[in-house]
Amino acid sequence: MATYIDTPSRTFNEYLLIPGYSSAECVPENVDLTTPLVKYKKGQESTLSLNIPLVSAIMQSVSGERLAIALAKEGGLSFIFSSQSIESQAAMVRKVKMHKAGFVTSDSNIKADQTLTDLVALKEETGHSTVAVTDDGTAHGKLLGIVTSRDYRVHRMDPNTPISSFMTPFKDLVYGDESITLTEANDLIWDNKLNTLPIIDKEGNLVSLVFRKDYDSHKQHPLELHDKAKRLLVGAGINTHDYEERVPALLASGADILCIDSSEGFTEWQARTIRHIKETHGEHIKVGAGNIVDRAGFRFLAEQGADFIKVGIGGGSICITRETKGIGRGQASALIEVAAARDEYFAETGVYIPICSDGGIVHDHHMTLALAMGADFIMLGRYFARFDESPTNRIFVNGTYMKEYWGEGSNRARNWQRYTATADKKLVFEEGVDSYVPYAGSLRDNVGVTLAKVRSTMCNIGSLTLSQMREKATLTVVSSTSIVEGGVHDVLQKDSHTFSTT
Ligand code: IMP
Repeated sequence: MATYIDTPSRTFNEYLLIPGYSSAECVPENVDLTTPLVKYKKGQESTLSLNIPLVSAIMQSVSGERLAIALAKEGGLSFIFSSQSIESQAAMVRKVKMHKAGFVTSDSNIKADQTLTDLVALKEETGHSTVAVTDDGTAHGKLLGIVTSRDYRVHRMDPNTPISSFMTPFKDLVYGDESITLTEANDLIWDNKLNTLPIIDKEGNLVSLVFRKDYDSHKQHPLELHDKAKRLLVGAGINTHDYEERVPALLASGADILCIDSSEGFTEWQARTIRHIKETHGEHIKVGAGNIVDRAGFRFLAEQGADFIKVGIGGGSICITRETKGIGRGQASALIEVAAARDEYFAETGVYIPICSDGGIVHDHHMTLALAMGADFIMLGRYFARFDESPTNRIFVNGTYMKEYWGEGSNRARNWQRYTATADKKLVFEEGVDSYVPYAGSLRDNVGVTLAKVRSTMCNIGSLTLSQMREKATLTVVSSTSIVEGGVHDVLQKDSHTFSTT
């Protein structure tokens, strides 16, 4: 006979935190969101930690190099998607590792034979007043000059004036070469009273720009996540099919941690993958596994040597697994059971294996609930897909800007490796959809607001660290009428605009 679980499968929306005593030092400025990323033994520290408990989903529409750089600067981590060729995934990882803080890829570029009209249009589109002039109008073309708003007067000049006639030409520019450090670049900026220093390679192609205003980049990104060599940290997704070729390529390109991306983690395929990586590349290579939704799944992956374990099946915003296959579990119920299993395993073995709550976060407060329920960190797809830095198009739909967001199990992504154990390279049926999500602006602004809410709630329950919150949190299941009470009710709202990011 089948086994029945008596309690219903619950979601984050069905829970609320009860406020607890806060002492005077419980203010958001004192909250520390550092969290372990990989397993560690009692009395020791995790060898890899996050400075904020957020990682981005292993998805084509989420985790490209641009988002990975932006997220690491805020203290989180991206796992570059694996549903692409080994070469292109390794190239993305390399780009993140090559990124040097304070060196930015020029995103306003123009050709020398374009006109003042084109320049004004570009400035309106990007909002940037420093424009690189390159032979092909791209960020890495041969650098021919720089134009800033000090070089032209829109109302006094013929709109058809070519850029070449008023740009500062290359021969008059001060520039740095690729090997320059940020300190040396800043010295050049100060010594020559520059606002911008272009960095070029041996062939004269533009590599990046260093801005005077970014001088104290570290002050702007105090939580930036980097390795000992001050390179940003980046993760990479892998699958259970081509790991023998993919893993060495990703490690060679500098990936700091790997994660098996699969719709189902309680499998022999995951065990084989972890074993192969540890035996071939060494125990020090970190690999996360999943996804699982219960104690049995957690114990299995823990015993196979997973460095962290991902929780969640069927809760993703673009996911149709539960409707298609009738399998999965409410994200809150899954997380609560797996968090208990992690604590039990720690008490038994002295090994703490961090768990990651993956999918199903709709509102910012769901993140706080997930952390209170025991998640060490959270993986998000829809949340990050809405930002400038996600790799998808921004599109105007019915009067609103939207970003595209599609599931790895959709026909668009065709990520058969995530869903099948066989190698017939086919998705027989879809488990995800192709969708739009509302465009929300920059990652930095949004993550800032989201985490301000998390910190504030942590203070409401008297906790300054995530582990304190897990211990102190009291959660209650809400009734359907108390959900109504929790929203705006019985008033006619003047303005529906809120500052909520989700
Ligand atoms: P979200 O944050 O709710 O959008 O969920 C993101 C998570 O959904 C990912 O990290 C994956 O675990 C999962 N996921 C991604 N693509 C699919 C799909 O096509 N079907 C089902 N789940 C998916």
